[in-house]
Amino acid sequence: MPDILELRAELAAHYDLAPSLEAAEATRDIYERMDRVVPLADWAMFAPYVIAINRLKAERNAVILGHNYMTPEIYHGVADFVGDSLQLAIKATEVEADVIVQCGVHFMAETSKIMNPSKIVLMPDMAAGCSLAESISAKGVAEMRALYPGAAVVSYVNTTAEVKAVSDVCCTSANALQIVNAMEGDTVIMTPDQYLARNVAALTHKRVVWWEGSCIVHELYTAADLRAYRESDPEVKIIAHPECTPEVVAEADFTGSTKDIIDWVHAHKPPKAMLVTECSMAANISDELPEVEFAKPCNMCPYMKMITLEKILYALHSMTGQVEIDPAVAMPARRAVQRMIDISRKVAV
Ligand code: 13P
Ligand code: SF4
Repeated sequence: MPDILELRAELAAHYDLAPSLEAAEATRDIYERMDRVVPLADWAMFAPYVIAINRLKAERNAVILGHNYMTPEIYHGVADFVGDSLQLAIKATEVEADVIVQCGVHFMAETSKIMNPSKIVLMPDMAAGCSLAESISAKGVAEMRALYPGAAVVSYVNTTAEVKAVSDVCCTSANALQIVNAMEGDTVIMTPDQYLARNVAALTHKRVVWWEGSCIVHELYTAADLRAYRESDPEVKIIAHPECTPEVVAEADFTGSTKDIIDWVHAHKPPKAMLVTECSMAANISDELPEVEFAKPCNMCPYMKMITLEKILYALHSMTGQVEIDPAVAMPARRAVQRMIDISRKVAV
């Protein structure tokens, strides 16, 4: 990717991207999905990008897969499919378009490429990483196997392709407990999220051992803060992601993946909800749930926020940022992801 000024100059030479109330009006149907959280003046800036991206998507026969942490203008404006990591991994196996633009972090783009090697997978910003994926390498997995011989390795999808390739199976926040329970043997190694592992350990009869990684977004929440909030406002429902500490999870009324969180709020419609996860989650569902007031605090994922309309447009325009994975790594990594999908489907029926 060129530096941001070069990128802007290239886009300005090919597209009219000036803020435009006319473009905002032409995309009113899209804007209505986020008008509680995005001011019209901002939408007038976003709309020319949304129009250009959606046009280019059709020309390139591309689809945009967006994670639930994308900002509203991406989530509602240009994504063809949105979901949690498990939904995105499954969707990557089903896509028929020639090009997948992954709006999320790098490990998600790798998963799409692993599951669909013949497609072009574009990452709008290759630097959009993840503190969990960066915390462990294939060598770390080997160290854990040496410490616990014979134990199955269950790696969170928030890992590089190299780590997936040396794992027995993957898991996501949506299916971690089922995957651990499906492993043979009494001891299961979970990498790299110590808090997801500890939260699963509290629910399974298996002995779970873990790598000491953590998510820089979710580890910031404390049980004391949540308790204080609830005391000041007893009506609030606290809904947490399992990357939070077990103490935070113990304070929550519900814990689940980003999809499970969205489903829970839709099903229960509490008058006030605190989503103990990334800030865009509440913003993305705010218009669908006008009866729910979303309480702060929330925390931003600096990696997810590296994905912008400008970078998505540039990726589609230049067809740069293509994700490549050594086939010798991709093949065993695919086995671990596919095994996860198969176990999830078997447990769901
Ligand atoms: P989900 O699989 O629940 O969407 O979580 C992904 C993630 O990175 C959360 O921080
Ligand atoms: Fe990684 Fe945490 Fe960001 Fe999710 S929120 S992508 S786990 S750093």
